[in-house]
Amino acid sequence: MTDAIHVTDASAPADATGSSALPRFPRGFFFGAATASYQIEGAHDEGGRGPSIWDTYCREPGRVADGATGDVACDHYHRYREDVALLRDLGVDSYRFSIAWPRVQPTGGGKANAEGLDFYDRLVDELLAAGISPAATLYHWDLPQALEDRGGWRVRETAERFADYTRLVVDRLGDRVPRWITLNEPFCSAFVGYAIGRHAPGAREGRGALAAAHHLLVGHGLAVRALREAGVREVGITLNPDRLLPATDSAADLAAVRRAETLHNEVWLDPLFAGRYPAHERETWGESADGSYRREGDLITIAAPLDFVGINYYRPITIADAPHRDADPAARTAVDIGVEESWRQDVRRTTMGWPVVPHTFTDLLVDLDRRYPELPPVVITENGSAEDDSVAEDGQVHDADRVAYLRDHLFALAAAVEAGVDVRGYYVWSLMDNFEWAFGYAKRFGIVRVDYDTLERLPKDSYRWYRDLIRHHKQETQ
Ligand code: FCB
Repeated sequence: MTDAIHVTDASAPADATGSSALPRFPRGFFFGAATASYQIEGAHDEGGRGPSIWDTYCREPGRVADGATGDVACDHYHRYREDVALLRDLGVDSYRFSIAWPRVQPTGGGKANAEGLDFYDRLVDELLAAGISPAATLYHWDLPQALEDRGGWRVRETAERFADYTRLVVDRLGDRVPRWITLNEPFCSAFVGYAIGRHAPGAREGRGALAAAHHLLVGHGLAVRALREAGVREVGITLNPDRLLPATDSAADLAAVRRAETLHNEVWLDPLFAGRYPAHERETWGESADGSYRREGDLITIAAPLDFVGINYYRPITIADAPHRDADPAARTAVDIGVEESWRQDVRRTTMGWPVVPHTFTDLLVDLDRRYPELPPVVITENGSAEDDSVAEDGQVHDADRVAYLRDHLFALAAAVEAGVDVRGYYVWSLMDNFEWAFGYAKRFGIVRVDYDTLERLPKDSYRWYRDLIRHHKQETQ
């Protein structure tokens, strides 16, 4: 299905812009860059925007590093023209951004706030004028606070409201946005937000988190229906399936991986692409899984056919068996599957502490492809690394580690394509440094540096490397 992959020596030096060793992709494969509304927009109280759960969470002491908030972030709301110019010079085919629900419906319901939609309207037109195809994510974690106050994703009403919101957005932008993503990483919304409490709304619940997972999926299915009715070209969802590696090959650790597969992967993949709830859910959840939030017909809603599945991938997770925090399953307040997660220590790690093991990207994709025959074509909607960047004496950011990370992961992706996985495109995370959730501004994922004092943008070496890769791909496949 593809030209031969250009195999290179994996130990080739990672010179910053050297294009001597570039991965090759089939004709038609597209490249893009990704961001998300709360992480870049700022302007938290402008244009009629209502508060989101992240505005609330950031204001709770001790939640976010250095007490950071997204109030200003990269000020993209005012500087989007400059950011689109950066995308144009980068040469990307597509830009993945997200729409802030609280800009469109400040209290999570009712008619659209025209000023909120106007912003995205201007952004979309600016992109099209620059020859860049817009890809809109409808939900990248910034739930209107008013909906959280009514139960958030724990309640079905939020899924229904999500479909109403989707209709308002697609009504306005559907004529110009070809690619739509309903949810970004519902794993994080449900489990990091409602079980572990490290993301907004910061809850630590068992049943609540499982109900949230289900309602997110129902919301996705209802939104797909709304997008189909509007006749848009491509509809998908972005998941973050994990590559889970046992700490040892003991039976206990292997059983722990089995449970973690349910939590991380099968909760989403099974209903979406196999039309069933996860096979091992009882033994994984224990008493928390009463399933009372499920209704007949939900699986059909959830499993509506998609044009693509978005995959975000960064690093593998090491899984070990661990005692349950509370021996009595009924007493557990958070989802607790008796597992300890850690990062491999024997390889280079990014500033997130994440291990860099590129071949796990290939393995994950090949494995998904084998396990889910109904899996639609894949689009990589995020991949990238946070590094300790600094501005050198020559005024530039020589982020050789990020270049090496991107190069090695793109080679790993090319290997998955060669192995037969139908991957259509790749978005780097992220166009620019931004608000990295609970880590605030301390972690930089951008290929463009943002100076948070002046808000100036400065393309890094990785930006130039990626630009060269895109140019090279276009020349080779013309
Ligand atoms: C993903 C998120 C994205 C960004 C990256 C680093 O989980 O979707 O917003 O924070 O991680």
